[in-house]
Amino acid sequence: MNSNFKRHLITAALPYANGAVHIGHLAGVYIPADIYARYLRMRGEDVRFICGSDEHGVPITIKAKQNNCTPQEIVDKYHLIIKDSFERLGISFDIYSRTSSAIHHKTASEFFKKLYTEGKFIEKESEQYYDEQAKQFLADRYICGTCPKCLAEGAYGDQCEKCGSTLSPTELINPKSTLSGNIPVMKSTSHWYLPLDQYEPWLKEWILEGHKEWKVNVYGQCKSWLDGGLQPRAVSRDLDWGVPVPVDGAAGKVLYVWFDAPIGYISNTIELMPNDWESWWKSEDTKLVHFIGKDNIVFHCIVFPAMLKAYGDGYILPENVPANEFLNLEGNKISTSRNWAVWLHEYLDEFPGKEDVLRYVLCANAPETKDNDFTWKDFQTRNNSELVGIFGNFVNRAVVLTHKYFEGETPAALNCLAIDDEVLAQIPILKKSIEDNLENYKFREALREAMNLARLGNKYLTDTEPWKVAKTDPERVATILNISLQICANLAIAFEPILPHTTKKLRYILNMKTSRWEEFGNISILHPGHKLNEATLLFEKIEDSEIEFQIAKLQATKSANEVQQADTSPSTTPPPAEPLKIECTYDQFSQMDIRTATVLEAERVPKTDKLLKLTIDTGLDIRTIVSGIAEYYSPEVMVGKQICILANLAPRKIKGIESKGMILMAKEENGKMKIVSPEERLENGSTIS
Ligand code: MF3
Ligand code: ZN
Repeated sequence: MNSNFKRHLITAALPYANGAVHIGHLAGVYIPADIYARYLRMRGEDVRFICGSDEHGVPITIKAKQNNCTPQEIVDKYHLIIKDSFERLGISFDIYSRTSSAIHHKTASEFFKKLYTEGKFIEKESEQYYDEQAKQFLADRYICGTCPKCLAEGAYGDQCEKCGSTLSPTELINPKSTLSGNIPVMKSTSHWYLPLDQYEPWLKEWILEGHKEWKVNVYGQCKSWLDGGLQPRAVSRDLDWGVPVPVDGAAGKVLYVWFDAPIGYISNTIELMPNDWESWWKSEDTKLVHFIGKDNIVFHCIVFPAMLKAYGDGYILPENVPANEFLNLEGNKISTSRNWAVWLHEYLDEFPGKEDVLRYVLCANAPETKDNDFTWKDFQTRNNSELVGIFGNFVNRAVVLTHKYFEGETPAALNCLAIDDEVLAQIPILKKSIEDNLENYKFREALREAMNLARLGNKYLTDTEPWKVAKTDPERVATILNISLQICANLAIAFEPILPHTTKKLRYILNMKTSRWEEFGNISILHPGHKLNEATLLFEKIEDSEIEFQIAKLQATKSANEVQQADTSPSTTPPPAEPLKIECTYDQFSQMDIRTATVLEAERVPKTDKLLKLTIDTGLDIRTIVSGIAEYYSPEVMVGKQICILANLAPRKIKGIESKGMILMAKEENGKMKIVSPEERLENGSTIS
């Protein structure tokens, strides 16, 4: 590693302690972060890997009310479940603490106080809903009413779960307090705001100019926030759960959870290293990297850096924020409230000894560049054909044969043939590629390359067939097995960051002490005469019945959710039409250039089943539009048709073809689509308004 950093401070997003951890969290944040931390430690770097529970915020207070207990009881429960399950999976945090700790309250409180005293906040009055009976201001989630968009009952002040619209509490029709059921009144309240707009030029410079190397999804999200213009953000809330605002006259106010939580990274570091923490947070020699999911980007790339900048005093900023996209489960969005998830603690109970299988599958499917899907079938296939069939099979054959022919002692490689040299020459190449990928947060690719090393070994044994020459050419067998064992030893190093439970077993089988990254590439890690331990299996086959059990469990969740749905919506009403989108202005509408056009040519886009490539006469030009209508219209039918298009849509590449514009389609609730055409044929290019 050619970095100039003396220390690596790695953080993983603090999970909310209102539920357990699921595979989406793991694939997006904790597994990549752990691989990175373990890798750097193996390289002898000075690493601190920081995490803890995020124990404030409204959802926790709501969960407490639902369960008739205190918020503290809720977070105590989930903090333990989360902490314990991370440990069992082998997530190697140096500390896993929590934001309800005294040290965190003190740190967050002092942080606020300094900014407050130095006049870094602005104070503003606003009108908010207040429950006169409960005598408190109502967080958005504490207000419900009729959705202004779809007219469903029971929409929340921030969101309607029926139609998915984002709302603000004042938009609700017939708002009610969920605390008392009463109609809330408007009352004025004052809060402190961090004037993010003042930091905008600095943020633009720092991110848009200074961090072009960030992942495109991260950079892109930052750019769109920054281009859209930043607004002051409230850093306090009227709530009775959180870090109290440390200012006279602020009774009943706490720090907004997104203000205190990131400070948790700092307070947890202080708890870990009370005397030394400043050299980790305030020294240019420290490389700070935040691992998060995509919904956290704005807080880690914009808000928290602005907080640190406002604080000054030498705080460093993140060098990188490798945020991932989301993992879906069997084609549906993972949801804690609908229990559509694979929960880590349940997995660990149901698949004892298979921690690394989950680590493997989630790393192989990590949603690094786009949302990805976890399916139990894929889980089984990857285990059975990759882990068992390739990695496990190779190691087992190499070790068993060594016991069979050499009494478990590493034989010497006497004279290598071309095939041996070729195999050995691959090791440094794979090593380099694995390193580059790990250092650039491409963990899937790193895993693939590590697996290629196992593939290489497996193929080598299959090609050289030592069992066939055993009788006639013992020297040849010695060479083959020596090389195979060296590959096993290299695998034990290559996989250590990703599959630490497996490599521990493997090191035991090989009776191998080292797991230093430096040794990776060495082709005589095991010296001739070095004694191996008995072969045991690294992985076991996963049977269909185990997978069927998991699928049935999900199916049960699905049915339960459907029953719940049916309970709340009367069965006589037809399926609702798609809800209305948010209002737009006439100006916004008139920006859209919609016109008639005629299809001149049409063909399927190869290797897709939904896309047609259409050549279109717009009256202005002849252009190409790629459209997802192949399921409904064959190319033949399309030729000659008059259609309507959005002509000034920004061009984009679809399957490598530049598509300019979009064809207007009418879509029924059941998914059926029809082309929209003028009643009579018109000149191409006629405008539609
Ligand atoms: N609890 C948040 C979430 O799960 C993450 C908090 S990260 C921190 O989305 F920076 F605030 F700590
Ligand atoms: Zn709605």
